[in-house]
Amino acid sequence: MINIVVAYDRIGAIGKDGDLPWQRELPGDLAHFKQLTLGHTVVMGRTTWETLPSRLRPLPERQNIVLSHNPHFHVEGALCVQSLAQAIKAADSEVFVIGGARVYEAALPITDRIYATEVHEVFQSADTFFPFVEDDTWVERSRESHQHDDPGSKDRYDYDFVIYDRRN
Ligand SMILES: NC(=O)c1ccc[n+]([C@@H]2O[C@H](COP(=O)([O-])OP(=O)(O)OC[C@H]3O[C@@H](n4cnc5c(N)ncnc54)[C@H](OP(=O)(O)O)[C@@H]3O)[C@@H](O)[C@H]2O)c1
Repeated sequence: MINIVVAYDRIGAIGKDGDLPWQRELPGDLAHFKQLTLGHTVVMGRTTWETLPSRLRPLPERQNIVLSHNPHFHVEGALCVQSLAQAIKAADSEVFVIGGARVYEAALPITDRIYATEVHEVFQSADTFFPFVEDDTWVERSRESHQHDDPGSKDRYDYDFVIYDRRN
């Protein structure tokens, strides 16, 4: 089973200046990401790896696989491979593709499930976008809404956790 985990805004924005458009202002989403991926294999692009805070490189308690076309690219704590196919072959558990846009694009045709966080905002100056097309390929399985003013929330924005499955 191949999964994508992604958070995007109303226009599909996922990144800005090598960071998330909402920076650290959605801790509820980070907790959700951790809960989904812990104990599994995370596959990411070189750029996403480089944008992780150093204390989270590698993401703990997960097999980390980093994609680069450069056969000489090596980092401590992660397996570096040159193609998505190699990453899937080397995975020792369920695969969660965690970005960025270039890797999502490569993974979408073979992805079974998308765990999307749909942020109810538009981040105008974003520079990286999820290549998601609203078409017949995906069926919405579940949707869970979170408001920034929910009791105990530390999130700045409202968002939904949505699961999309590939239509059989
Ligand atoms: N909102 C979210 O859910 C989310 C998730 C992840 C990242 N992001 C954001 O997205 C941005 C980074 O995304 P990005 O699209 O610029 O970069 P990226 O996809 O993380 O990394 C791109 C690099 O990965 C390697 N690569 C990608 N696909 C490959 C493939 N099929 N085979 C071999 N190597 C491959 C290449 O490295 P080489 O150049 O070394 O060949 C490529 O230059 C950041 O702003 C980050 O914060 C957001």
